[in-house]
Amino acid sequence: MNKPKIRSAYLRNNYAGLFQACISLSKPGTCVEIGILDGYSTIAIGSTLKNLGRGHLYAYDLFEDYPYTNQKYEEVLSRMERFNLTDTVTLRKKDILKAASDFRDSSIDFMHVDIANSGDTVANVLMEWNEKINPGGILIFEGGSPLRDEISWMKKFEKEKILPELKANEILNTQYTYAILHPFPSVCLCSKNLDNQKNNWFELDYEYAEKENLKRKIGENELFDMD
Ligand SMILES: C[S@@+](CC[C@H](N)C(=O)[O-])C[C@H]1O[C@@H](n2cnc3c(N)ncnc32)[C@H](O)[C@@H]1O
Repeated sequence: MNKPKIRSAYLRNNYAGLFQACISLSKPGTCVEIGILDGYSTIAIGSTLKNLGRGHLYAYDLFEDYPYTNQKYEEVLSRMERFNLTDTVTLRKKDILKAASDFRDSSIDFMHVDIANSGDTVANVLMEWNEKINPGGILIFEGGSPLRDEISWMKKFEKEKILPELKANEILNTQYTYAILHPFPSVCLCSKNLDNQKNNWFELDYEYAEKENLKRKIGENELFDMD
């Protein structure tokens, strides 16, 4: 039997590597994804969490109710079963704006938004979801490059551009630090500012680092000794 093909704009430039690196490094507890389609990013995030042995991904989509390119709920579920991810990934059929009420304030450590994004998506997500993101947490939007704003469907459907919204958005520019990665389709990688919040010391590993620093002074030679 032929394996079903995975459709994803991220495939071309291997954005799975970015998701894996972000998850491996930040070791998030609660993760949220909005926009699954065939599950490329969902599988990348979910399998990295599974390998780490911690964290859970709540993945949302409209599935067959989305009127454009979509995938059926049952098909995505069977993919999650095939990848042995049903303990790590929970699929939910809900609109992005309704899903926010499923989470407590400051409870999300990692969030990925990929719903055929436009400037409106960025504005709405920051309005509805910002309070839910834990300081120190990561928020990734698909898009952000000026070239991504020029693709045909953005023009055809007269969508608001993403980059001007990123530059102007008050929540983003006061509460986050962000970078845009330009290879197609591009992403905006946002980190919610910490402003020295002591309660994040433990989860971001600073308590451990401080203890180690007190125990021994690490010499420069030791730091750069890669053998
Ligand atoms: C570009 S695809 C996601 C691609 C996927 N993240 C990947 O790695 O290839 C966009 C998905 O967003 C979903 N979607 C669109 N609007 C949505 C909304 N308002 N709420 C939830 N999901 C939505 C669509 O059903 C579609 O499956």
